[in-house]
Amino acid sequence: MSAAIRVNNLTRRFGDFVAVREVSFAVDRGEIFGYLGANGAGKSTTIRILCGLLAASAGEASVAGVDVIKQPDEVRRVIGYMSQKFSLYLDLTVSENLEFFAGAYGLSGRTFRARRDEVLQQLDLTSQGDELTGLLPGGIRQRLALACAVLHRPQVVFLDEPTAGVAPEARRRFWRLIRDLADSGTTVFVTTHYLDEAEYCDRVGLMVAGALSALDTPSGLKRRFVPGRMLEVLGASAEDIRGAVPEHRIVSIEPFGAALHAHVKEEGPRAQELLAALQNSGLKGVSVIDAEVTLEDVFLRVVQQDSGQSREQQSQGGAR
Ligand SMILES: Nc1ncnc2c1ncn2[C@@H]1O[C@H](COP(=O)(O)OP(=O)(O)OP(=O)(O)O)[C@@H](O)[C@H]1O
Ligand SMILES: [Mg+2]
Repeated sequence: MSAAIRVNNLTRRFGDFVAVREVSFAVDRGEIFGYLGANGAGKSTTIRILCGLLAASAGEASVAGVDVIKQPDEVRRVIGYMSQKFSLYLDLTVSENLEFFAGAYGLSGRTFRARRDEVLQQLDLTSQGDELTGLLPGGIRQRLALACAVLHRPQVVFLDEPTAGVAPEARRRFWRLIRDLADSGTTVFVTTHYLDEAEYCDRVGLMVAGALSALDTPSGLKRRFVPGRMLEVLGASAEDIRGAVPEHRIVSIEPFGAALHAHVKEEGPRAQELLAALQNSGLKGVSVIDAEVTLEDVFLRVVQQDSGQSREQQSQGGAR
């Protein structure tokens, strides 16, 4: 079976600036594919190309079997798109917004009403049908924007930062809905800034400055980029830790909220050992606990690795 999304060497330039650089990946049907990256990494540009809204400079892409480059108009019929700024009409009710989107997809009459009731139920919006969109909280508007995007039963939906600015509980609920959608066979391509949310994705692609730097399952990324163990240290500085542990046992020490994440090799110290060593060096009120490796750790490592590579290229005179 062919992939739901297939991208090959996709590139988009704006003048001399390369916003998306030779990106290649494939997404399976029913998969939740997370596309992560900092501001300006090229996430929205990729989505807009895949939705047939922006031309590519080079490369190939197909979505639900439709060639995006050759048939951008055709692709818009088989996908749903939730843009970074939800394009809802605030002066219309929830149902009226759905009706507006239905019109754009050629759904009307009984077919529309049946489908409207279905998505209202699916997205837990049944009791809000007659409410004015502008008066609803962000989390509900977000579900309405998703409802509008899936009304015509697209095979693939593109969600561009759907949870930006939404409260944590509403975000969790939204991700449960995304999972339901994927379980029913819809392919979901989603961007987010929240690295904790990427844990909900089947696979994650990390974009750094226009290039796809890594792509794997969340646990695969952790194994590959952050092998070893993570210790969370409060009440000690990076120098304190380096003073207490042989240098070759430490991979890195990074700030993590108010604490430090000391990434140590597998044979490095256990939490209890590090705590004892720090206390022996005279520190008071220090704590050390085992921490989960997070995608934030992965992301830091990938960015460091990429900037290391570009420094190497520059020193070899290979900078482009
Ligand atoms: N029409 C345009 N003309 C010139 N530059 C553009 C255009 N659209 C995007 N860019 C640039 O391309 C880069 C990638 O933008 P893009 O919107 O894809 O990033 P993003 O990863 O979605 O970022 P964000 O997380 O802020 O939404 C940015 O540096 C942006 O300024
Ligand atoms: Mg964007």
